[in-house]
Formats: sequence, structure tokens, C-alpha cells
Amino acid sequence: MTNSPTGGPGNGQQTLVAPSILAADFAFLARDIAAVPSADWLHIDVMDAHFVPNLSFGLPIATAVQPHTDKHLDVHLMIADPQRWAKDYADFDSVTFHLEAVDSLAAARELAAQLRASGTLAGISVKPDTPVDPLLDHLADFDLVLVMSVEPGFGGQKFRPEVLGKVRALRERIDRDGLATLIEIDGGIGAETAAQAAAAGVDVYVAGSSVFGAPDPDAAVQQIRQAAVQAQ
Ligand code: DX5
Ligand code: ZN
Repeated sequence: MTNSPTGGPGNGQQTLVAPSILAADFAFLARDIAAVPSADWLHIDVMDAHFVPNLSFGLPIATAVQPHTDKHLDVHLMIADPQRWAKDYADFDSVTFHLEAVDSLAAARELAAQLRASGTLAGISVKPDTPVDPLLDHLADFDLVLVMSVEPGFGGQKFRPEVLGKVRALRERIDRDGLATLIEIDGGIGAETAAQAAAAGVDVYVAGSSVFGAPDPDAAVQQIRQAAVQAQ
């Protein structure tokens, strides 16, 4: 696997829509995944009730999804001690852990290197109030940066536009340095907020309730993509 799911470094801003199965019906995951054929990625939210005040599912459920799709499976670890657990997810396409869950930026870079060595893309995530400035000189060490636009832990929250300043700073540095690092946004994304995020420079749009809560989930995916493309 290359370090870029989009074909090489410096491709400029992408538009990838990633429905979050957190908002799907856990008893009918295969059915709900089949309901979003237009999705580019599928986003898998792992929560441990320690790092975030909620419990979703872990490796057994994430693994159960794998045979039901050929899409890029994007794991978002909202867990404490990712150094211990992240390697278990190495056969997913991307694995993102939280900067706040490791002791230092050096530890984050080391874990990302381990994930890459095990064959998956490595992502780093930041909560809404965590600055990205310390990451800017080290973006080549990460395949994606996931900017949370709500406090992690629950779907269905309201988008926080103030995080878009961080997206702009990341976009500027990624473009300046010709990097392949993707910028992902997660929380409160629908067509309208995807447009705001696109204008700031986002590549990957995670959307839970606006997709699986819609009467036509696949149409919702297409609307997010269209709104993002138009706003770039
Ligand atoms: C929240 C999760 C999100 C969640 C987004 O902590 O990381 O991926 O599924 O849900 P919506 O799109 O409903 O805000
Ligand atoms: Zn997520």
C-alpha cells in the first residue's frame, strides 16, 4: 500500500465522503453499508468509555464489517492507550488515534511510523480545543489529520465552525510542502457544513446522522459530495 490513497503526493484537495457506521443500525450493519454505494470510505468509530464518555464497539464488530465491503475502512480510535491497541487494527485501510491520548508528539510520530510499517495509513486526530500548530512541521509523518468538529463521543452534535481555522492552517502547509496528507473533518457534517469545510480545505467528510438518518442515505452522500465540490 502506498502512503497516499489518492495516487501520490501533492495531489491537492480531494473530496471523499465517509459515512460513519456509528449512526447505522448495529443489528443491520451489512444492510446499512449496502445502502451507501456512493460512499468513498466507511468510517468506524471505536470508543472505550475512558477516552470518551461513551462505548461503541471494538475490534470484533469492526472486523465483522470487513467481508461486507470493498471500500476503504477508516478506523477512528477514540480510546486511551492507543500504543497498546492500535496495532490490532493494522489490516484496516487507515487507523487514526488521538493526539490527546498519547504522552507527546514524539510518541504520536512513533506510533504513526509503526502503523505505516504494519501496512495501514496512519492518522492523528485532535479534539476541537486542541491546536494543530505543533503538528504543522511534522505532517509528512501522518497520512491524515482528523479535525474533530464536535467533542468526540457522540453522533448528532452541532458542527463547530471555529475549528475551520485549524483546517485552513493545515491546508496551507500541506499545499505549500506538496504533501499527500489528507484533512478529515468529523462531527455535525451534512451538505451545508461540508460546504464550509470544503472552502477551508477539507479532503474527507465524515457524516453519521446526516447520512444514516436520512430517508435516502445514498442521496445524502451524493449531496455532501456535490456541496463540497461546489464550495472548493
Ligand atoms: C463522534 C464520532 C463521529 C460521529 C459523527 O465522536 O467520531 O464519527 O459518528 O456523527 P455525526 O455525523 O452525527 O456528527
Ligand atoms: Zn469519528
